[in-house]
Amino acid sequence: MRKLFIAGNWKMNHTGTETERFCRELRAKGLEGHKADLLLCPPYTSIHAMVSVLGDSAMNVGAQNLHEKDSGAYTAEISADMIRDAGCTYVLIGHSERRRYFHESDEGVNAKLKKALDKDLSPIVCIGEKKEEREDGVTEKVVRKQLLAALEGLSAEAAGKVTLAYEPVWAIGTGLTASPEQAQEVHRFIRRTLAENLDGHVADRIRILYGGGAKPANAEALLSEEDIDGLLIGGASLKVDDLYKIIEIADTINK
Ligand code: PGA
Repeated sequence: MRKLFIAGNWKMNHTGTETERFCRELRAKGLEGHKADLLLCPPYTSIHAMVSVLGDSAMNVGAQNLHEKDSGAYTAEISADMIRDAGCTYVLIGHSERRRYFHESDEGVNAKLKKALDKDLSPIVCIGEKKEEREDGVTEKVVRKQLLAALEGLSAEAAGKVTLAYEPVWAIGTGLTASPEQAQEVHRFIRRTLAENLDGHVADRIRILYGGGAKPANAEALLSEEDIDGLLIGGASLKVDDLYKIIEIADTINK
């Protein structure tokens, strides 16, 4: 049994002031007793505001990235210790926007993942194919390569602490969404790949979130799929009502 997981990735949105207002409104709706684990990943500058309002609630707070080194001359970068000290327990790693705009490589994702685990941060590793890769029929090949490169050198036990997010790049912020069937097919493939390369029990336990155009209108259908264990939500996590609706939809899912 994998517990559902509803996670929001705010990307470069919401100032500290806006974050504080958002979090107060969200908290007033009721964050306790929901079926899913809950997470929001605000920009670094909003972590403090979010932790001040939601730090003692069921909402977990995460960062959107980390640097693989502990400290040093890496201007503008943020270490795992800094993230933890700020009150985060989760961190996103290898989001496609990081890969695309900031040239993050599979090797870099692997180094960041090892650092996050070493520092007791719960990592969410993002993988997914581009539009032309799907059209060329190489989705599974691409996803498998990203997955195995990210997990390279980890024991099955360490890999069991990772949450994965399948995010087809063509569905991120584009208004497109993978159909629940398309997403399920890749999620099943990811789980099979984990079982073949790690261990069947670990593969069964690892949560695989779907991301890319998730919103209240498609949350139920996506979450009902057997191997979709939660959602990583961009745009729809920026509005209190949309995010809360999705949390409530997760409450109704039985599987
Ligand atoms: P989206 O973004 O929900 O706005 O498509 C998802 C993501 O990038 O995590």
